[in-house]
Amino acid sequence: MAEYLTFEHDVLVIGAGGAGLRAAIEASAADVRVGLICKSLLGKAHTVMAEGGIAAAMGNVDERDNWRVHFADTMRGGQYVNNWRMAELHAKEAPDRVHELEAWGAVFDRTKDGRILQRNFGGHKYPRLAHVGDRTGLEMIRTLQDHGVHRGIDVYMECTVVTLLKDGDRVVGAMAYDRERGRFQVFKAKAIVMATGGVGRAFKITSNSWEYTGDGHSLAYHAGAELIDMEFVQFHPTGMVWPPSVRGILVTEGVRGEGGVLLNLEGRRFMFDDIPENYRSQTADNEEEGWRYTQGDKNARRPPDLLTRDHVARCIVREIKEGRGSPHGGVFLDISWIKKRLPNAAEHIKKKLPSMYHQFKQLADIDITEQPMEVGPTTHYMMGGIRVDSDTQMSTVEGLFACGECAAGINGANRLGGNSLSDLLVFGKRAGEFAAKFASENSPGQASPDQIDEAARRALEPFERSSDARGEGPYQIQHDLQEMMQDLVGIVRREDEMLRALEGIEKLWERSRRVSVTGNREYNPGWHTALDLTNLLTVAEAITLSALERKESRGAQYRDDYPAKDEEFGRFNIAVKKSDDGRMQLRREAIPEMPAELKQVIEEMK
Ligand code: FUM
Repeated sequence: MAEYLTFEHDVLVIGAGGAGLRAAIEASAADVRVGLICKSLLGKAHTVMAEGGIAAAMGNVDERDNWRVHFADTMRGGQYVNNWRMAELHAKEAPDRVHELEAWGAVFDRTKDGRILQRNFGGHKYPRLAHVGDRTGLEMIRTLQDHGVHRGIDVYMECTVVTLLKDGDRVVGAMAYDRERGRFQVFKAKAIVMATGGVGRAFKITSNSWEYTGDGHSLAYHAGAELIDMEFVQFHPTGMVWPPSVRGILVTEGVRGEGGVLLNLEGRRFMFDDIPENYRSQTADNEEEGWRYTQGDKNARRPPDLLTRDHVARCIVREIKEGRGSPHGGVFLDISWIKKRLPNAAEHIKKKLPSMYHQFKQLADIDITEQPMEVGPTTHYMMGGIRVDSDTQMSTVEGLFACGECAAGINGANRLGGNSLSDLLVFGKRAGEFAAKFASENSPGQASPDQIDEAARRALEPFERSSDARGEGPYQIQHDLQEMMQDLVGIVRREDEMLRALEGIEKLWERSRRVSVTGNREYNPGWHTALDLTNLLTVAEAITLSALERKESRGAQYRDDYPAKDEEFGRFNIAVKKSDDGRMQLRREAIPEMPAELKQVIEEMK
């Protein structure tokens, strides 16, 4: 075996956003040696894009809130294909995780009597999102980082994992390279926690930055783990649409939580046109009541702008398609109108939504206290991911745990805003705890030298093809994939289009096998992009196959050719696994019967 830089840990956490940091903190509290790998710099994570708040039923603003309501909201939002046990644990444990974050130094906005302030968000019955203006994710990362650095965790920045190493059926390490020097690194570990986030970069318009290429999904899949719910990709209704250079950047749902309204070109609040049956009793049918709700009137019902993301995104697409969109292909989101209601509206907006104010001022030259924003859907979050045990977060591969966005289950067909931050705290903690336990109970495994040499050889292949006339650079392949997924497997899906996407993916696989790069290994972004292609294509294929298999519309999956929900499809999740001959295999995994007491909670909340 060639010589590689080698590191040894009991628990290796791959991904250093909120979930990875929380897992690393918990594992280190169990006194095991912890390594934390980040693809980028520490602190740069998609967690910061959950701007509007952390969902936790603390009942600070409306005392009627409790874990039962939160559980029922999460299940309804996910259209009942969620892992109910995860939804239960999440609803019960989220308040403790928020209080713990506060104890570690997070500075939340406050109610008048000094408690953590909570705001309204789509699909949540009561004001539930603990927040720090519109920078909640950022505050969470800051707090976890500050807390984590004192725990003696070894952090490896700008480090990308290319394969997981196995000993028999068990995961025992990872092979990576550092972006700066291009050196290979071998990480030996008794347990691995995958916390790599999402897959947004498989689509053209996304709130995700360059790191989110489905690495954890793909690494786990190729190591033999099962993925589930891959058809459920969340398109956040409001991303920036103009100017083109900032298209897709998130516009927090907090804008609507603070009274912002969606308008079409005619200036009409189109969300009133289409209120889904299961939300009718909870939704205001007039502007006055909607406004009172956003201002904390407990007897008012939510405005339709605050329905679940899947529904709002589809309504926006309808307005655009039918010619009632804004000049640059979105719709309008207006918070400036509140000056009719509040004397100090401009100051209020700047205080509640400081990042949005600066984002639009600096990037689009729009003053949101005076003018409406132009917004449209943006690929934001992946509900699907690594299938895990609900309590321990261990995947179907021994020694491999997962948490946060790359793990699946809690959100079902659609995630409620703010549930991502609480999810990553609740299940990050659990993953860290159980990975540490696994590490303490198991001796280290051995990855064969062949496995390691083979991983290095494959990673270097793109350099060897630099003189191959049939080779091509990675960027065009990545670009073609993103365009195709956006157009053919996006918000509205159809069988014929997705079959075309599958053919396209096959061709892109062939092209990726001939991808070539030039230059050397030091800071070579072309090489990094070439290595990302396997991950992007793996998740794109899993999304497309799963979306074809689910012949119904549910949550984030909307099928033009099957526009209704089908009860039969509500009984299972779609699982994806690599077969022995290397092909992607699909399986229907029956959803276990919900215990009577949880069924009763859902009945009561109806
Ligand atoms: O709109 C937002 O602030 C996003 C929150 C989330 O994705 O949870």
